[in-house]
Amino acid sequence: MPLEVIILAAGRGTRMHSDLPKVLHPVGGKPMLSHVLGTALSLEPTRIHVVIGHGGESVRAAMEPLFATAADRFNWVVQTEQNGTGHAVRLAMPDVDTKSRCLILYGDVPLVSQDDLHSLCRAEAALAILTASPSDPSGLGRILRDGVGNITGIVEQRDASPGQLAIGEINTGILLGSATDLARWLNGIDRGNMQGEYYLTDVVSLATADGETVHGETAQDPDRFLGINSRGELAMAERTFQRLAAGALMEAGVTLMDPARIDIRGETRFGRDCVVDVNVVLEGVVEVGDGVNIGPGCVIRDARIGNHCRIHPHSVLENAELGNHCQVGPFARLRPDSRLGDHVRVGNFVEVKNSELAEGSKANHLAYIGDSTLGRNTNFGAGAITCNYDGARKHRTVIGDDVFVGSDSQLVAPVRIADGVTIGAGTTVTRDVDQPALVVSRARQVSYPGWKRPTRKPDR
Ligand code: UD1
Ligand code: CA
Repeated sequence: MPLEVIILAAGRGTRMHSDLPKVLHPVGGKPMLSHVLGTALSLEPTRIHVVIGHGGESVRAAMEPLFATAADRFNWVVQTEQNGTGHAVRLAMPDVDTKSRCLILYGDVPLVSQDDLHSLCRAEAALAILTASPSDPSGLGRILRDGVGNITGIVEQRDASPGQLAIGEINTGILLGSATDLARWLNGIDRGNMQGEYYLTDVVSLATADGETVHGETAQDPDRFLGINSRGELAMAERTFQRLAAGALMEAGVTLMDPARIDIRGETRFGRDCVVDVNVVLEGVVEVGDGVNIGPGCVIRDARIGNHCRIHPHSVLENAELGNHCQVGPFARLRPDSRLGDHVRVGNFVEVKNSELAEGSKANHLAYIGDSTLGRNTNFGAGAITCNYDGARKHRTVIGDDVFVGSDSQLVAPVRIADGVTIGAGTTVTRDVDQPALVVSRARQVSYPGWKRPTRKPDR
């Protein structure tokens, strides 16, 4: 039977106290709903119905560009009044093909595991539910079983007796059933409960009343099925995501000095034998080659790092591309569109923006290289800067191969420096230099022997 997925994402998320719809709050750098949509797509369903309500239009607008290639599989269902999970699913049912099976997921349960969903989908019962036994079951629906262990129903926390509250097995909310059976049971549920809502969970007792066995699949890692209703739960989900992401990196052969002190907010790919020290944040798409060492406290966003590079402590890289054997930092900043060739060194307190440094070039200390091109084996001295901005426009500085830019020089763009030029320390370069030469613009040094410092007569 083909599979269709219904994702519930219409809730208000009152306890977040936020203007942003709850399902758009990020986990691991991505809106929580996008995790669910991605996992749903991995099951290859024919359709995905997303029930939206509060802030629904902004939810849809945020998701559509992320899943443009699968747009034809999405169906957006609007639930204007949040009358409960059963009501939400019922609204989507008319769009579900009666010959399919239907899997219910939640927009605020972002870390659902694909493996558990696969196991659930293999169940042959008319109704299958995913259960878990977390260390703290409070607030969640409890699973009721009869004397021989068959599931007979689910009771919500607020409707449960003290005896039922002692049950440790909970309902993750995720369930699977045939579209026709689900539709029939959904028509049988009512609002006779403490919240006055249509509970999706009531289909369980209706199924058993029909003489059906309800299959219970136990989730491997209960942390992955905790719903997010508050900022505290958001932080817990973030930690779970990071634990899983760090585990996956180590599994793939990366050494993490402390897996509890790395944050991955995007997609990362590492080569062999890389080492990541503590408190590193990786955002966006970060691709790292073989034998790379990333020092403590680095923040790296959307970067490509070649083989055998060393990123020394507390460096910040954004939208940068590094060749092989580069050395960056400590305390370096590579801003967007920085491209370093092989064996380039960018040292402490050096800022590079929209610039290329070709193979073997160095800027080891305290420099600003903006909107520039540096050839090979050029040395950009301490305190030297490019003056790329005239107050209105940005201009380029083009420096050739084997150039020596003396300390504390200023290169006033637009300016071009030929191969082999030596710029003396403290020079302000305002004109092009088109052949190898020594360029110096500073005033000559003068000494006055015997000159006396002014003194002040002692106060009387
Ligand atoms: C639900 C389950 C509970 C389970 C828990 C797991 C019911 C009645 N209870 O409780 O057994 O342990 O999930 O987290 O199903 N939503 C809508 N429209 C609505 C109501 C809810 O789209 O009218 C969405 C919410 O946005 C949310 C999800 O459904 O994503 C769950 O709703 P919520 O009210 O949080 O259910 P719980 O009380 O957590
Ligand atoms: Ca609720």
